[in-house]
Formats: sequence, C-alpha cells, structure tokens
Amino acid sequence: MPPAASAPRPPQPGAFGARVGLGAAAPALVAALSALAAAALQPGAHGGAEPRPAAALAARFARPSLVPSPADNPPSAAKIALGSRLFQERELSATATIACASCHDPRLAFADGERTGRGITGRPLARHTPSLWNVAFSPLLFWDGRASSLEQQVRFPIEHPDEMGSSLAAAAERLRARPDYVRDFRLAFPEHPQPSPLGIARALAAYERTLVSPPTRFDQFIAGDASALSPSERNGLAIFLGKGRCGGCHTGVNFTDYNFYDIGLPGDDRGRGAIIGLGAADHAFKTPSLRELAWTAPYMHDGSLATLEDVVRHYERGIVPRPTLSGDLPRNLSLSDGERANLVAFLETLSSEQPPQPSSEALLPAPSAPPIGGAVLTTSVSQVDKRFAPAYVRLGAGERLTVLNDDTRTHNVRIYDPRLDFNSGAQEPHQSVTITFPQPGSFEAFCGIHPSMRLRIDVVRR
Ligand code: HEC
Ligand code: HEC
Repeated sequence: MPPAASAPRPPQPGAFGARVGLGAAAPALVAALSALAAAALQPGAHGGAEPRPAAALAARFARPSLVPSPADNPPSAAKIALGSRLFQERELSATATIACASCHDPRLAFADGERTGRGITGRPLARHTPSLWNVAFSPLLFWDGRASSLEQQVRFPIEHPDEMGSSLAAAAERLRARPDYVRDFRLAFPEHPQPSPLGIARALAAYERTLVSPPTRFDQFIAGDASALSPSERNGLAIFLGKGRCGGCHTGVNFTDYNFYDIGLPGDDRGRGAIIGLGAADHAFKTPSLRELAWTAPYMHDGSLATLEDVVRHYERGIVPRPTLSGDLPRNLSLSDGERANLVAFLETLSSEQPPQPSSEALLPAPSAPPIGGAVLTTSVSQVDKRFAPAYVRLGAGERLTVLNDDTRTHNVRIYDPRLDFNSGAQEPHQSVTITFPQPGSFEAFCGIHPSMRLRIDVVRR
C-alpha cells in the first residue's frame, strides 16, 4: 500500500511571488518571448497576429489564481482530509484489496507506471491510468470524457468489475461500520454526518482538486526570468509553438484545450465517438495535460508510447491515416535529431525536478464557468477556430438560432437541458444548424467533440 498521499499544504504566499507584468519585464525576456511568438505566428500555426506577441504568449500560459470548484461542494480542511484518507482506502473495493491509490499512486505522480493498470481481478484494463495532477481543471473526465464532474466520476472505478467491483452504496455501508469514518464524515459533512455515497464522492473530489502541480522552470520563464530556460529548451518551445503545431491543442496553463482529437494511434478503441454516438469522433481522445510528464510514463490512452521521444516520433511518422484524423495535427513533420531533443527538453521543463508536490500558491476555489461578458442580440453564431462567436447571445422566445460551421473541423452542437434536448449530429464545415427556443430561459450549448466551445443563450419573452 502506498504511503499517505502528500497532505495538501495550507496556502502560502505565492511561491513565485508577484506575477511579473511584462511591461516591467527585462528586455532579454521580451526579446526571447518575441522570437518565440514569431515562431508561433508562422503560416500554418495558430493564433492571429497579436499587437504585443510577448505579452500575449505570457497571458496564454499564465498560472491561474482560481481552481474550479462546484458551488454545492466547497472545499474544507476536514473534507479534503477525509478525501485523502478515502483515496487510500481499500475498503472501497469489493475485496478490500484495491484503493484509488493502488492505480493512482501518489509516489508515481498519481499514475501507475504501467501500460494499463489492473484492479481486483488482475485482468489488464482497456486503457492507461492517467495521472491526476491538475484534474480539477478538466471539464470532462476520462480519456473519452464520459464523466462530467469529479463527483460524478467516483462511481465508475468503484463499480467497474475489473477495477474495484463494488458500488458506492456498498462502500458507504462498510464505512458506516467504522467509528473512525463515522467521526470523519461528521467533521466533513455536519449536515449529513453518516458515511454516504454522495459524501464519499464529494470528499474524494475535494481532495483531487488539491492536486494542482507546482510552478516549474517554464512558469519562471513566463513570469519574467529569461534565463530559466536554456537556449535548446527555448528552441524546443519555438518548435512546439511553430512547425510542430503542438500548441494548437496543447495550450493554456495545463497545455491542453480539453478537446477530443484523433491523433492517429493504431487500435479500434472508438473513444469519444462511442460516448456521443458519432462516427466523426471515433478514435478521438481527450488532449492530456503536459504538466509533470517526466513522472508519468508511459503515454497515451493505451499507454503504448514509452518515452517522450517516442511521442515526438509518433507525431513525425507514426500517425495512422484515417478519415477521422484531426486536421490540427502537424503534416509531414520532420525534425532533425537536435530539434527532436530540444522539443523533448522543452517538454521536460513542464515537470518538477523532484517528485511533484501540490502547489503552494494561494489558489482560491471558484465556480467553473468563466465570465463571458455581455450578451449580443443576434440569431446567428459562427464556429470558426473552435470558438462560438459571439459566445453569449440573446434572442426572443420562438426565434431560431442559426449556428454556422465556418470552421475547418467537424463540430457537434449539443444542448442538454430538460427543457430542450438538442444534438446536431456531425456538423461538417459549411453546414449550419438551426435551433428553435420555444420558451424563455438561459441555455448552454457546447460542442461534443470540442467541449471547450461554449455558447450561452438567453431566451427572453417577446
Ligand atoms: C484499477 C485501477 C484504477 C483504480 C482502482 C482507480 N482508477 Fe481512476 N482511472 C483508471 C483508469 C484506467 C482511468 C482511465 C479510464 C478511461 O479513461 O476510460 C482512470 C481515470 C480516472 C480519472 C479521470 C482522469 C482524467 O484526466 O480524466 C479520475 C479523476 C480517476 N480515475 C479517479 C479515481 C478515483 C477517485 C478512484 C478511487 C475511487 C480511482 N480513480 C480508482 C484506473 C483506476
Ligand atoms: C490535434 C491536437 C494535438 C496536436 C496538434 C498535438 N497533440 Fe499531443 N495529444 C493530443 C491528444 C488528443 C493526445 C492523447 C491521444 C490518445 O491518447 O489517443 C495527445 C497526447 C500527447 C502526449 C502524451 C501525454 C500523456 O500524458 O499521455 C504528449 C507528450 C503530447 N501529446 C505531446 C505533443 C507534442 C510534442 C505535439 C507537437 C509535435 C503534440 N502533442 C501535438 C492532441 C494533440
């Protein structure tokens, strides 16, 4: 059994102190960032021309000050402590032999170091165990996104016949027979003091949200220390943003847009396609974070690539041609040995130099939905560049909203709402779909393949 997970440390004043405003940044940094931004803005790369490329680049990868946390499960020290204990608790499995930590081993960056893990039956699982670092920021969980919150995710491993083979109800019953757990649940959930399925899920989720990886040399670089990356690492970053086209999907502080893509790994796992019932999303898997990769080998949903060099070689010439392949992938990427080594060296700057510990930055829990500004009065929306534009619209009840796919990618517009259930199916480039909103209210549409695309629709009485 692994030792107790590193206890979440109380927030301390920011490890890197102030986030350095680039206005005041050293000229060397501005020069370095500008060169990188120039690489990122080469034809074929993503992102439009920015008036202040260095600042734009720093903003794109800036560390967050907030950690998403649902309003109905705010964190507390008692809840997090209980979640950390439950994470190590083998009683959650039918045979009392397997804990979450058996597969998500805190000593192995919350992964298991195996191609695919094993649970109570010893049978190899279908997919590779992902690391849980920064899982708080992932809007959908699992390689195929089939769980929509950490709370909801918990029941899957507990119920899976090969993982823990039990049920949340049975696990709660076992814990109710344990005076130590009865005490800890009372401390964590004073209103619902008995160990319960909901309590187990909430405590585990609150604990998992503390697993925010700490700033690394890359963050030091972005925060203003030009010497934090060596020239070869900087060259690796330029390849990452430039001809490697990696930044088109691996973007933001965690180096993922949380969308689903087919990157051409062999195999017949349908991934996202099976979940949303859409052939266009077959073989698409969630873009993983690139944080702490040095500690989480092997890689990919099938654990098939042993090293970061293998990963880079996959993007160079391992891509299996298929109709569902993402158009965002680099085409005919060819790197010299030196360039490949630099790209790998850059990827390693996103990892802690010692086994990662939870960040000591003063991060505040916050509701997950980001502010999106004011509503635009319109009945038509564009989808170019994996973005609904505008992202917030207002229209009258009974009016029709037209969503035009003026992007190069297949989209899948969805609204999950008891008042309106909408699924566009595969919406190919140039196709538009129309949605009629019969009654007033606020609705949210998203893309089933690129869920980072969110559209809020306020329908008002006419
Ligand atoms: C037997 C090994 C095993 C056990 C035990 C296990 N997991 Fe997992 N976990 C996995 C695998 C494999 C996946 C990926 C499955 C998939 O995507 O289809 C996964 C995925 C996850 C994810 C999604 C991460 C992401 O980035 O989307 C979370 C969160 C998670 N597990 C938490 C837990 C918790 C909490 C427990 C204990 C209640 C647990 N796991 C028990 C193997 C395990
Ligand atoms: C089209 C979007 C896209 C592009 C472009 C892209 N990736 Fe990925 N990346 C993904 C997805 C999706 C996965 C997971 C695929 C799977 O498991 O089936 C992934 C997986 C990875 C992994 C494995 C991470 C892990 O924890 O298993 C690494 C490392 C990686 N990519 C690095 C890169 C590099 C370096 C580049 C540029 C050469 C790049 N990616 C370009 C989408 C992309």
